[in-house]
Parts: sequence; C-alpha cells; structure tokens
Amino acid sequence: MYLAKEDRYQKMQYKRCGKSGIRLPVISLGLWLNFGGVDSFENSRAMVRRAFDLGITHFDLANNYGPPPGSAEETFGEILAKDLQPYRDQLIISSKAGYDMWPGPYGEWGSRKYLVSSLDQSLKRMKLSYVDIFYHHRPDPDTPLEETMGALDFIVRSGRALYVGISNYSAADTQKAAQMLREMGTPCLIHQPRYNMFDRWIENGLTHVLQQEGVGSIVFSPLDQGALTDRYLMGIPPESRVGMNRRFKPTISESKINKVRMLNEIAVKRGQTMAQMALAWVLRLPEVTSALIGSSKVEQIEDAVQTVNHLEFSTDELVQIETILAG
Ligand SMILES: NC(=O)c1ccc[n+]([C@@H]2O[C@H](COP(=O)([O-])OP(=O)(O)OC[C@H]3O[C@@H](n4cnc5c(N)ncnc54)[C@H](OP(=O)(O)O)[C@@H]3O)[C@@H](O)[C@H]2O)c1
Repeated sequence: MYLAKEDRYQKMQYKRCGKSGIRLPVISLGLWLNFGGVDSFENSRAMVRRAFDLGITHFDLANNYGPPPGSAEETFGEILAKDLQPYRDQLIISSKAGYDMWPGPYGEWGSRKYLVSSLDQSLKRMKLSYVDIFYHHRPDPDTPLEETMGALDFIVRSGRALYVGISNYSAADTQKAAQMLREMGTPCLIHQPRYNMFDRWIENGLTHVLQQEGVGSIVFSPLDQGALTDRYLMGIPPESRVGMNRRFKPTISESKINKVRMLNEIAVKRGQTMAQMALAWVLRLPEVTSALIGSSKVEQIEDAVQTVNHLEFSTDELVQIETILAG
C-alpha cells in the first residue's frame, strides 16, 4: 500500500494563483506524453508517486493526452484508484478540451456541446466526480467567445469543475475572456501558455493582461521539451524524444545547442543543473505561478524540484542570459 511521505510539504514552494485562494506548487507535472496506453504503467505510477512525495500537488491532463488519446486520463485514474485516492483533497487535477477527440462536428474546438461532453468523458476515464481546473485548450476562431465562456461557467455551476482556465489564448482574447467570466461570476483562475527561454511571446502583452486581470499562469514546455536541459549536450540519447523520433519533440539545431552549452556554464556557476536554471528563469516573472514540466523518468522530477533551492538571479546573471539568447 502506498503511503505518501510525511515530509512532502517541507521543501516545495507554493505560489498564489493570480488573485485566487489557490496556491500551486512552483513545479507541476503534466501527463501529455509518457503516461499513455503505449507507455509502461509502472513507470508512470512511479513518476506520479515520486512527484507527490516531493510536494507536487498539481497534475495536468487533457482529453487528448496519450497516445492513444484519452489513455493518460485512464492511467491517471488507475494511479488514483491504487495510490492517491486517500489524498484527493490534497490534489489539484486539471483537464482540458479543445483539440480533436471524436469524429463529427462536435468533437473539437469550443462549443458548449463539445466542452461539456468531453469533460463528462474525462471524468469517467479518471473515475472522478469533479476536476479542480477545467481549461478551454485552444481558442476557437468560429464559436462566439460568449458560448465558450458560458460553457465554462456552466461547468463550474454544475459541479464538474471547481475552477476554469484558458490555454493558448492571445493577450487580447484573454482580456475579453477574463472579463466575460468575471461578469458571469466564475473568475478565470489561470492561463496555460507556452513559455521558455526560446519562446517568449507572453512577454509581449499577455503577462500585462494577467497582472491586470488577477489571473495566474502555469507555463508549459518550460524546458523546450528537453532542449533546455543537459539531455542533448553530448549528442542525441536513443531513449529521448528526439532519439525515439516521437511525434512531438524539440527542434535540436547546432546553434540552439551551442546556446544551451553557454547557458549551462552559468547554471554550473550557480550550482544548478541546466534544467533547474531554465525552470527558475520562467519562475522569475511574478505573473508565472508554476512551471509545468513533462518527464520520462523519476530522476527528471527529482532534478526539477530542486529548483526551489535557488530561484533568485543576480542582475549580472540575467544580463548574461539575455546576451546568450540574443546571440
Ligand atoms: N496547453 C497546451 O497546449 C500544452 C501543450 C504542450 C504541453 N502542455 C502541458 O505541459 C506539460 C509539459 O510539457 P513538455 O513535456 O513539453 O515539458 P518540458 O518540461 O519542456 O519537457 C519535458 C521533457 O524534457 C525532458 N526532461 C525533463 N526534465 C529533464 C531533466 N531534469 N533533465 C533532462 N531532461 C529532462 C524529458 O524528455 P525525454 O522524454 O526525452 O526524456 C521530458 O519528457 C505537458 O505534460 C502538458 O501537461 C500543454
């Protein structure tokens, strides 16, 4: 029988999510890849258990995570049933809908029909009565925003989710969505954008909106899918996303790896691994509540959580990092 480590809340840091009552761990675990039906259940289980033992209370899912789509939620449901069910009230579990899930006109995008049906399917797969956060996964150019936000409001009022969020929304759409949700009485808890040293789009307007609206953020791919770690510094390991030629993998170019090599020298001087410095770097922004990592083995999670030992940067370090990234 699994018993969670008693000291699990001692080291992890928890940051308030926007202007809400929820605090999230600064490192959260996403189950996009490596937790599907094609992956080893025991490895997935070991990663989730280790994460929780290290103070990671937030696990991020979506209807389409796998492969095959839906299977990461099934895996997580099984881990809950076997290990984590007694700790349900200590967990923040999220899911999303937006991408293609089933055939016909109601299986993707942002209609009320799709969002409510999809969440009902997710709840069944995870054997849960509610999720803590439900996201609209990507903006829908055709469905009126009022309908999508109305569906999120309904989802909370019907007890299927405690909070709602949006993902991949532009700054302008985020502002509109946050305003609509506030007027409906279901404030937007969180935005989930992509953000890392090589992809800084959120700095051009989104962080300002988040700050203004009191919305938190959890940033995905903070390690650029593994490129911002020491994983590719000595070549391409066969068991990595690039080595296995997975459908989703980081772009590894000579110039990128050269930059990571220089960044890694700064990390070493800080007494950190490259992954830890990349995570601390996204967390330097007050608008970033949590860094949402992926993982293929327990050791990567252990590495990531040690980021909390050194989150601060000197001005000099930040300037050096900017110079490398601009090069
Ligand atoms: N909202 C959205 O549209 C969206 C899109 C994408 C992702 N997400 C969310 O964000 C989560 C994370 O995304 P991501 O997997 O791209 O994040 P990531 O943390 O940037 O990349 C994770 C990968 O980096 C490598 N890695 C992680 N820690 C490492 C370490 N300490 N040392 C060396 N290598 C390490 C591993 O690659 P190997 O597998 O090669 O070992 C791991 O699978 C997803 O699970 C999902 O929840 C959301």
